[in-house]
Amino acid sequence: MRAADIQSELTEILVTEEQIREKLEEIAARVAEDYAGKDLLLVGVLKGAVMVMADFSRYLPSSVPMDWMAVSSYGAGTKSSGVVQIRKDLDTDLHDKHVLIVEDIIDSGLTLSWLLENFESRGAASIEVFALLRKPEAAKVQVDCKYVGFDIPNEFVIGYGLDYAEKYRNLRDVAVLAPHVYS
Ligand code: XMP
Ligand code: MG
Repeated sequence: MRAADIQSELTEILVTEEQIREKLEEIAARVAEDYAGKDLLLVGVLKGAVMVMADFSRYLPSSVPMDWMAVSSYGAGTKSSGVVQIRKDLDTDLHDKHVLIVEDIIDSGLTLSWLLENFESRGAASIEVFALLRKPEAAKVQVDCKYVGFDIPNEFVIGYGLDYAEKYRNLRDVAVLAPHVYS
């Protein structure tokens, strides 16, 4: 889906498909170097990180296992509730693994800080975070994020995996959702 098809529902395109591609390639090169010789496990956070994981993992030069976790701190609205629920747990034992959490976006940071604490209790050798997007002005807790794609303004965004009420995930770019859509 292209932005042109839903132009009236967007106020602005923040990151284009092309910019995402370049950034993923660049971060994949860093990750490949940082994790050379290490037992790396990619953990994607469903559902938002599906697109990031699919594209990012294919820029990595060697075979890397991936697992998925589904958590939820949002309802159908646009604000974090701060209450995190596990909807699907990992299939993998994290013991001695070098875990890289792959996230679509860090907003308040509440979800990730909860996840990091949860993962730390499972005996991983190391845990780092890659988030494609981050909203620095929205942070309620500081999360150590080693790899960040783009810092963006504090507005509700959709596309490239990000949804509003399950819509727009298949938009190729990341865009700001027009307030009239949700208010
Ligand atoms: P927090 O606030 O806990 O948010 O850092 C984590 C999760 O909330 C979702 N999220 C968004 N989804 N547009 C979206 O479509 C947004 O602007 C947005 N902000 C947060 C997302 O799933 C993220 O992992
Ligand atoms: Mg979401």
